[in-house]
Amino acid sequence: MKKMLLITAILLVSVYATTVVAATNGPEEIKYTPKMGTVTFNHKAHQGRTDCATCHHTGDYAQCKSCHGVDTAAPKAKDAYHKGCKSCHKELKKGPTKCKECHIKK
Ligand code: HEC
Ligand code: HEC
Ligand code: HEC
Ligand code: HEC
Repeated sequence: MKKMLLITAILLVSVYATTVVAATNGPEEIKYTPKMGTVTFNHKAHQGRTDCATCHHTGDYAQCKSCHGVDTAAPKAKDAYHKGCKSCHKELKKGPTKCKECHIKK
């Protein structure tokens, strides 16, 4: 009986934990559709590649464009994405670094 209660408690805790994570991890995939071509960003896969703060560098999860392109202290949005995305791919020699590997024209 004690064992059953313990197992139930563990199950409840893990269900709770996954719900909390799912509620705050943001979208699994993000698609940008600039004229240059669609960029499909697998957000979920990238969450296993580095810490959240590498990209969400301001300590919150606000949209990048709420500052980049608005706040004059922040580099333009295009530069922020390009620097933030490509520099890691270059450094690790993994992931796309050429224009047409990221920007796919339909
Ligand atoms: C490799 C970069 C990267 C990593 C790592 C990353 N994110 Fe993101 N995340 C993004 C980008 C880019 C967006 C889209 C925001 C935008 O374009 O304005 C986003 C969006 C989000 C959003 C939605 C924000 C909104 O208002 O639309 C949440 C929530 C979020 N991320 C949470 C997380 C959490 C939690 C982690 C760590 C477990 C994480 N992210 C790791 C790049 C990243
Ligand atoms: C609350 C405002 C704010 C948000 C939200 C924000 N940034 Fe920034 N970002 C800044 C400011 C201000 C700077 C310039 C000063 C600094 O480096 O901290 C900056 C700098 C950067 C740099 C360095 C650029 C360089 O030239 O070295 C990158 C890359 C970057 N941001 C990417 C992102 C990405 C990607 C997102 C969204 C996931 C994001 N930022 C969200 C304000 C913000
Ligand atoms: C901290 C490192 C890091 C950052 C920052 C990062 N990436 Fe990646 N990305 C990777 C790695 C590593 C791979 C390759 C994974 C593999 O091939 O096993 C990758 C692969 C990709 C791919 C190929 C498909 C996939 O997901 O495997 C795309 C597209 C991509 N990244 C887009 C982006 C965009 C857009 C951003 C900026 C919002 C970004 N990445 C930021 C590390 C990063
Ligand atoms: C790692 C992926 C990646 C690579 C490589 C990349 N880009 Fe981008 N690019 C992006 C992302 C993400 C955005 C942001 C799209 C948005 O805000 O809608 C962007 C935005 C842009 C924009 C701005 C579009 C607009 O309407 O504001 C232009 C132009 C652009 N890229 C051209 C290029 C060129 C030229 C190259 C090659 C030298 C290149 N990109 C390489 C991911 C990439």
